[in-house]
Amino acid sequence: MIILETRGLTYSYPDGTLAVQDLNLKIEKGKKVAFVGKNGSGKSTLFLLLNGTLKPKKGEVLFHAQPFKYSSKALRKIRKSIGIIFQNSEDQIFAPTVYQDVAFGPTNLDLPKEKVQALADRALEQVGLSHLKNKPPHHLSGGQKKRVAIAGVMAMEPEVIILDEPLANLDPVGADEIMDLLNEFNHFGSTLIISTHDVDLAYRWADYVYLMSNSKLIGKGTPEEVFRDMELLKEGNLRQPSTLEIYHEIARRGLARGKTLPKTIPELVNTLKPPELMWAELPPGTQEGDSLNLGVLYGDYAQNSPYEAINGRVLHLYPEGKAIVEISRKGFKAGCILIYDTNHYSHSEVLKVINEGEIDFVGAMGKRSKTLAEADGIYLDVSSGVIDRSLLTALCGKRCLILTGGGMVEHALQRIRDYVEKSGIELNVGTVNRNGKGLCWLEGFEKAVEVNQKISL
Ligand SMILES: Nc1ncnc2c1ncn2[C@@H]1O[C@H](COP(=O)(O)OP(=O)(O)OP(=O)(O)O)[C@@H](O)[C@H]1O
Ligand SMILES: [Mg+2]
Repeated sequence: MIILETRGLTYSYPDGTLAVQDLNLKIEKGKKVAFVGKNGSGKSTLFLLLNGTLKPKKGEVLFHAQPFKYSSKALRKIRKSIGIIFQNSEDQIFAPTVYQDVAFGPTNLDLPKEKVQALADRALEQVGLSHLKNKPPHHLSGGQKKRVAIAGVMAMEPEVIILDEPLANLDPVGADEIMDLLNEFNHFGSTLIISTHDVDLAYRWADYVYLMSNSKLIGKGTPEEVFRDMELLKEGNLRQPSTLEIYHEIARRGLARGKTLPKTIPELVNTLKPPELMWAELPPGTQEGDSLNLGVLYGDYAQNSPYEAINGRVLHLYPEGKAIVEISRKGFKAGCILIYDTNHYSHSEVLKVINEGEIDFVGAMGKRSKTLAEADGIYLDVSSGVIDRSLLTALCGKRCLILTGGGMVEHALQRIRDYVEKSGIELNVGTVNRNGKGLCWLEGFEKAVEVNQKISL
């Protein structure tokens, strides 16, 4: 379903600068859309047109197939449904305190006072700024101001969230947290539109990409379509995302496997290393051509590994005992990933999972989960890029635990599910205490009997 559309959209500023020319877009509901393009190409101007802040000189914007009207009543309705976070937070923040600024939108929706308070408090918690709620916004750092602006829009719960350069000024872990939060909103149905100069982000995150140059649209398509077109990238002043650049170099050297372009680091690793061939330490007396059953231990196959066993055939034996083994791909299993739902958090339960589940690696996603873990002294191996790093770690035969809550549980499961489907590698994946229901295993994945027995919650 098309939620937002433009037809022949054209805008020029009062000084005559033509900033947006004849733009035709169709944005689907629930999608993550990224606009890329060099400085001055018209992205910010377009965004201001998309929520009615600017009125087109020609053409129109349609929301749910209804053309925008520009009366103040109609505009109020549009801005409730289509929230925008400006490129420059200074343009957006004006109330005397952080709390008042975030509560401004919901207050204007004529909601009861308690509801306004609940929405504003939740939004402040989500962006990690509850402790600064009484501070004047102009005393905050650039990144903190950005978070206030994001919280202000999130508190309105709009259908479409437009973010102009959302990650500019944010520190890397803070940027990951904001993206996690946006993904959660998207998971529950919000349509997200961002502009960014970060091609790596646009490539791995977006469902659809638009490329602008000199006030016009010069390219559109899936991230793979747009970012593989070198001519187009040159015209748009862009470079290739790093994963693609590395992948093309691997392919140029004849070392790539498969034709699917990798988006994430685990996918990139998969293209490089054919999982059919592995190094292994073999029992004495093994001959070339023998068929063996080996265990996976930390990425290598070892005779004494306590973990999953796989079948292999010895292709070549080196004098010092190492060998190249061809493994049968079907049934190739790596380590496991458990996801603990922190909405039903219990410190002792998490410790039990870590100890009895022989967890090697713990990560937390989302501000709340990180705060809980830190308050209870749970050592976090990783707190950004948690899903990708857990996948890489699980591929090395280790056991990972991700602490996260609410919609993020489903988001993490979906990402892992996508990976398992694409790679054909089976990971044991489980959720612990999802919706307060104790340990359970996902349908469609192999049951990890060993782990299941060790963790009896
Ligand atoms: N208030 C204004 N008055 C006149 N011209 C303007 C105004 N704001 C922007 N422009 C011009 O409109 C064009 C598009 O600017 P816009 O800010 O939309 O680009 P952008 O793609 O968002 O760039 P950036 O990547 O630098 O944020 C530019 O040529 C810019 O100089
Ligand atoms: Mg801009």
